[in-house]
Amino acid sequence: MSAVKRIGVLTGGGDCPGLNAVIRAVVKTAVNRYDLEVMGINDGFEGLIQGWIRPLTPADVVGILPRGGTILGTTNRANPFQYPWPDEHGIIKPRDCTDVILANLERYGIEALIVIGGDGSLKVAKELADRGVKVIGVPKTIDNDLNATDVTFGFDTAVSTATDALDKLHTTAESHHRVMVLEVMGRYAGWIALHAGIAGGADVILIPEIPYDLASVCAKIFSRAEQGKKFSLVVVAEGARPKDGEMVVAEYTDDTFDPIKLGGIGKKVADDIARECAVETRSLVLGHLQRGGSPSAFDRILATRFGAHAVKLVVEGKFNRMVCLNTPVVTSVDLAEAVREMKAVDPNSDLVFAARSVGISFGD
Ligand code: F6P
Repeated sequence: MSAVKRIGVLTGGGDCPGLNAVIRAVVKTAVNRYDLEVMGINDGFEGLIQGWIRPLTPADVVGILPRGGTILGTTNRANPFQYPWPDEHGIIKPRDCTDVILANLERYGIEALIVIGGDGSLKVAKELADRGVKVIGVPKTIDNDLNATDVTFGFDTAVSTATDALDKLHTTAESHHRVMVLEVMGRYAGWIALHAGIAGGADVILIPEIPYDLASVCAKIFSRAEQGKKFSLVVVAEGARPKDGEMVVAEYTDDTFDPIKLGGIGKKVADDIARECAVETRSLVLGHLQRGGSPSAFDRILATRFGAHAVKLVVEGKFNRMVCLNTPVVTSVDLAEAVREMKAVDPNSDLVFAARSVGISFGD
């Protein structure tokens, strides 16, 4: 028997394929298996502050397993500890809205909260846990940069999208004897670039964990040309940087979790290659295509396992934990451990070794 009778669920931060699969698993597990009630909170922590809360039943989650995005909506601009709020003079100032959240949880009878989010949302979840809320975290991000889980859902789909893009770029690069540079997401980690680069047969992969040297990138392109291969494919993680340079920032935003938006390194790399190698070069930014679309079978399964396990933790009274994949089992870790550090690519890993072994250059 569960001490908790009603749970709330929200999705926070950037979306990714598989969020709906988690929501579906949470609702079905809670209602059908454990006889709990579920309240859906719209638009992440903002909905928790504003009271955008409604019941979620199995009927609400019919047909959402293969759908990208999140039926609950999300935002990355609502840090509840610095939420814009009018003071006694009506002037909008950042305010700690913990009291508002606690009041809304009480008002809607929500006794435990399932937060599906990346590092920003999970840090908020931990803060709420420290202030007395019963919280379970579910890790999501296409970036795969959360340390406490082997992999996050959304990543596999994003890698497939990037690989598909590389396959398409391959044929046009070959026809026109060009260098094609594809910039992919990942923030400060190179997971998407590395996996898609290997899967898509890239010639050069540039990632934040291995700063590159332009001369070395050009040497790879020249050596291919000498072998009669007049085209090359370069995958660049948005956080990649030259050995003697900085990451390229596209803009500084009011996103309270992640105010620095990376972007532009692909164009820089393409321009540098065109100039130094005197080859025709094109670049493109894959962007939010990586976050959209139907989740892969792998992501649907992982998301379903995560959602079901999150509810099981609630029923067992194990709070302030984040579900995770510790292959082959889904288990959980303390939330504090979950948000402690980012997971970066290990330059000495077998993945990088395999990539180098098949001739891929990291530009180092
Ligand atoms: O964290 C997921 C992610 O897609 C990153 O890869 C990317 O840097 C960022 O979010 C983009 O954020 P936004 O949706 O705010 O442009």
